[in-house]
Formats: sequence, structure tokens, C-alpha cells
Amino acid sequence: MSRPKFVAGNWKMHGSLPANLSLLSAVKAKAAGLKAQIAVCVPYPYLAQAQSVLAGSNVAWGAQDLSEHAQGAYTGEVSGSMLHDFGCRYVIIGHSERRSYYGDTDAVVAAKYAAALKAGLTPILCVGETLAEREADITAQVVTRQLDAVIAASGVESLAKAVVAYEPVWAIGTGKTATPAQAQDVHALIRARVAAAGREVAAGLQILYGGSVKPGNAKELFGQPDIDGGLIGGASLVADDFIGICAAG
Ligand code: PGA
Repeated sequence: MSRPKFVAGNWKMHGSLPANLSLLSAVKAKAAGLKAQIAVCVPYPYLAQAQSVLAGSNVAWGAQDLSEHAQGAYTGEVSGSMLHDFGCRYVIIGHSERRSYYGDTDAVVAAKYAAALKAGLTPILCVGETLAEREADITAQVVTRQLDAVIAASGVESLAKAVVAYEPVWAIGTGKTATPAQAQDVHALIRARVAAAGREVAAGLQILYGGSVKPGNAKELFGQPDIDGGLIGGASLVADDFIGICAAG
């Protein structure tokens, strides 16, 4: 597949107004002319800043989570329609940090995914196994279970409006990247699983790899047939690193 890669930054809980201004401005300037599709997912308070600094650029922006509910008495939560209201396009769903620290079970993730689509947002659905699960040789079962929860709730056609990110938990923020072959194996499995239910959806699905992607390893990862881009944590906080990864796409 020779379509442009999709590179999405996940800032996690990092940032400040002045630091973001220089990071966003540098990314905006350096992204101009690159053929990769690019987005940054920032903390809620900085969405408005991303919107204004990135206006008119080829860098889209998004959030890192949303409520599974449309509205109501859910103090502290943010709904999909609120994000959509002022132009937010992407939202990360089911990141392993949400799954492990904040109780985002497969059922909650499926509900958040459905809520994102209902609000007109593009979910970036994260799946991936822990180190213990990989060592127990159940990577395929875990990833399939996580994916199937969403397919069961929203249907396979919903993936035509979504992005999937395979992020092995043991590779996130650890400096340990999955080898291109390890990542490709799981990406192929994800695509095959989707193809079993919807061939065309599978062919068009963007499946990103996440977990210690750096400018030095991006090209080889992105060269794999089923890797359509990356979800970038640490390296998305350094403009030159993030752009170096985008340029590999
Ligand atoms: P990392 O994070 O690139 O810092 O490993 C990826 C992610 O958590 O999305």
C-alpha cells in the first residue's frame, strides 16, 4: 500500500501554554509539504490552543479520551459532542494507560468508541498486549478480544471511520520497540480479523504502530506492508523527532 502514512502524536499529560506554542508552531512550520497525514492529540485544556495555532496547517488535532456518555451528571467528564463542537477531529480511545490506570475495560472502550463515532469524531482505537501476555503467548487472543469488543458493539463497518493503533504495552515509553517483524505479525492479524467480517473495510483500515517509535526506527517500521503509520508518545514532544518520524511516512 503506497498511500501516505498517518502519524499521530500523543502528548499524554505534558505541556504548558508557552511550551506548546513553540512545539505546535515548529511542527506546523516543518510539516508543511510533507506527504504524511499528521495529527497531535493534546490534553483537554490545550485543545483550543492547538485549534488556533494549527489553523490553516496540514496538522490536525485531537483529544486523548472522552466520556462514553452523551451528557449528564458526570462531573469531570468531557463528551464527544463537546469535542466535536469546536472542530476536534480525532480522539484516542482505549490507550493502555486508560485501560490499566482508569478502569477502561473492553466494554467501556467499546462504549467510548461508539460515543466518538456518534459525535462525528474519528476514534484512534488502541489495542495491545502486556509483557506478561506476550510471554504467555496470548498476544493474538488479547488483541483479538480487544478488537472484537468494538466490532460486536459497533459493527465492522464502523472501522471504515476509525483508525486502529497496535501498541504493545511493553514497548510504550520503555525504549523497547517491537521489531518490525513482531509488529507486522500483529498488524496482519488485525487486518485479517477485520477482513473476515469486512474485506473492503480491512483493505482501507489504517493500522498504526505505537511504542517507542523514533526517527531512527520509523522508516523500517513504516516499510512493513500492514503498518500504515504510528502513534507517537515521547517523540511527539520534540518537534524535530516528531517531524523526523512524519518524514519517514
Ligand atoms: P511512546 O508512547 O512513543 O512514548 O512509547 C506511545 C503511546 O503511548 O502512544
